[in-house]
Amino acid sequence: LCYRRQRQMCIRDRYCCLTVEKVLMQTLKELAEILPKAELHIHIEGSLEPAMMLDLAKRNGVELPYADIDAINEAYKFNCLQDFLDLYYQGMSVLQTEQDFHDLTWAYLQRCKQQNVVHCEIFFDPQGHTERGIGFPTFMNGIGSALTRAENELGISSKLIMCFLRHLDEQSAFATLESALPYLDSITAVGLDSSELGHPPNLFSRVFARAAELGLKRVAHAGEEGPPEYVYEALDLLQVDRIDHGNRSLENDALVKRLVDQKTPLTVCPQSNLRLAVIDKMAEHPIRKMLALGLNACVNSDDPAYFGGYMNENFFALIDSTGLTRDEIFKLVINGFESSFLAETEKQTHLNNINAMR
Ligand code: HPA
Ligand code: ZN
Repeated sequence: LCYRRQRQMCIRDRYCCLTVEKVLMQTLKELAEILPKAELHIHIEGSLEPAMMLDLAKRNGVELPYADIDAINEAYKFNCLQDFLDLYYQGMSVLQTEQDFHDLTWAYLQRCKQQNVVHCEIFFDPQGHTERGIGFPTFMNGIGSALTRAENELGISSKLIMCFLRHLDEQSAFATLESALPYLDSITAVGLDSSELGHPPNLFSRVFARAAELGLKRVAHAGEEGPPEYVYEALDLLQVDRIDHGNRSLENDALVKRLVDQKTPLTVCPQSNLRLAVIDKMAEHPIRKMLALGLNACVNSDDPAYFGGYMNENFFALIDSTGLTRDEIFKLVINGFESSFLAETEKQTHLNNINAMR
């Protein structure tokens, strides 16, 4: 018997058997690479790579507590969400001008091109900027011009999701929504992010209701560190179309049944989960369990510059550590498009392209 796979050895010795396994993994990675993908959970400020952070700090005369890229990488060791958020808000302080926001967004979109991410729905955190005196025109125009350029030059479609920082109060969220009114044509949805524990969704019921009246779709981070009750609140009080993360939903069977019955999308972020200690090891990532339960999960990068990779690296990590299968890769990629805010006809075009690769 093959000592690793616990079954009849396929070829003559265990080295051959391991080689076969490696080749299989390689082809699964190639499949994950070449499939067209949609990314639904990416914070644009979390795509700020260390090298760009240092460049922009220099360009704008911002002081950072890092001498070089090694020092930044050394600092990126997180025990929980808050450890990360502290550095994330510090990092975004280098973003000052419209050009900075354009460069940041353009760099992410070029990664999308390299990785066959053909559609993305991008979070941005206005309060992370307005609190430092950077106004809506600066980041809306900078991000917006990069998105238009990507549509024209790279053939990548996109939507914008404006997040409210949940560690700030309802009044600040309302002020943010008010400031966004002139830009509503370019914003598809509102979201809720930042420190989850102690900041339950119910605190934002009224501002989400107002967003709904304005015709905006709704998503919320819930069940990343917070309990299943926060996922219920996001569904019942914020009336969300998707749950971001949602991992802790698995603790509550009734909630899982509801999410399955309603086909609520969960935008899952494996490398983020590992780096923020939502899971102990990638081998323990629940993505396959989620699919087996019938949950509508898809794969995303969250904050790729902080968590060790973009969309494809997240698939590679799952392939290396969880035994993700070919069918599961297809399912996750299809779920991404089906859960997107694209029009039905656009979804169908992408799904046809994917199915042609089966
Ligand atoms: N969780 C909550 N807030 C965030 C995250 C996250 O993973 N990334 C950026 N803001
Ligand atoms: Zn997130």
